[in-house]
Amino acid sequence: MSNDVRGEIRKVAVLGAGTMGNGIAQVCATAGMEVAMRDVEPSFLERGLAQIDKSLAKLVEKNVLSAGDRDAARARIHTTTELEAAVADADLVVEAIPERMELKIETFALLGKHAPKHAILGTNTSSLSVTEIAAASGDAARVVGLHFFNPVPLMKLLEIVRGLSTADATVEAARAFAARIGKEPIVVKDFPGFATSRLGVILGVEAIRMLESGVASAEDIDKAMKLGYRHPMGPLELGDLVGLDVRLAILEHLHKELGEQFRPPALLRQMVRAGKLGRKTGEGFYKY
Ligand code: CAA
Repeated sequence: MSNDVRGEIRKVAVLGAGTMGNGIAQVCATAGMEVAMRDVEPSFLERGLAQIDKSLAKLVEKNVLSAGDRDAARARIHTTTELEAAVADADLVVEAIPERMELKIETFALLGKHAPKHAILGTNTSSLSVTEIAAASGDAARVVGLHFFNPVPLMKLLEIVRGLSTADATVEAARAFAARIGKEPIVVKDFPGFATSRLGVILGVEAIRMLESGVASAEDIDKAMKLGYRHPMGPLELGDLVGLDVRLAILEHLHKELGEQFRPPALLRQMVRAGKLGRKTGEGFYKY
């Protein structure tokens, strides 16, 4: 590793202002870190900030956060479309761009060049190989999976994924980061689907197959898991929350890596082709 990565994290660069990226930016800013949130289009940044404002307002309404702390957190979030500017003085970079390996590789190659040598480089991938992403940076020891859950401000888990070459000091820094932002970490080996997506996705894919076979309605399949198994949301509503395009991308990857049980159902492909991606487009298994 090029340098000591265990110093205090003062500045975080979050790449991607989508559902996960803006949530990550929010929790870092609320925990007192300066944040540079980067996306490729100004309109994506505006939408990300609007979601942060909505979430912070909800937390103030519920007395989880004071109005003063909200304003201070909000003032710590800066936006840019320039990757180099975003990461220039970052102590930690969290990548939350779309789930496509070629984009991750391109981004981590840039991070290897432009991020400070002491910075930890995290990827929020939910299933892709952290080892492969890390290799693209040219300094794999400081790359680690930092897998967050939607909605980021409310979900307690941070899944830390140790790539083949991730240094112990990087994992320890990731644990310290989790504590700082009030998340509970688990540390898992880099294996397709990690500990979370592999199980979560299998439930979701089986629910879609059951819907295809007419076993029960979407409402009743969800009700079965909520009332019969005490899940906070049913697997189909959860698919709508996560995004059906995201679900499909994870399934395609796990199908390739782990086999037949993850084969994407035809219904899911059709819905994605029709632009029915869940909450974000106003329709998925349900209408919003
Ligand atoms: N910020 C702040 N507040 C939020 C919020 C956010 N981002 N999202 C929701 N809330 C608020 C709601 O507005 C609601 O407020 P009101 O009570 O004032 O209406 C409050 O939180 C509680 O929500 P609800 O009462 O509607 O529902 P709930 O008690 O069931 O909690 C939930 C909502 C936390 C989302 C819960 O349903 C839950 O835990 N669902 C499962 C989520 C899950 O499994 N996430 C993981 C997805 S997989 C993933 O993200 C990883 C991947 O790799 C794809």
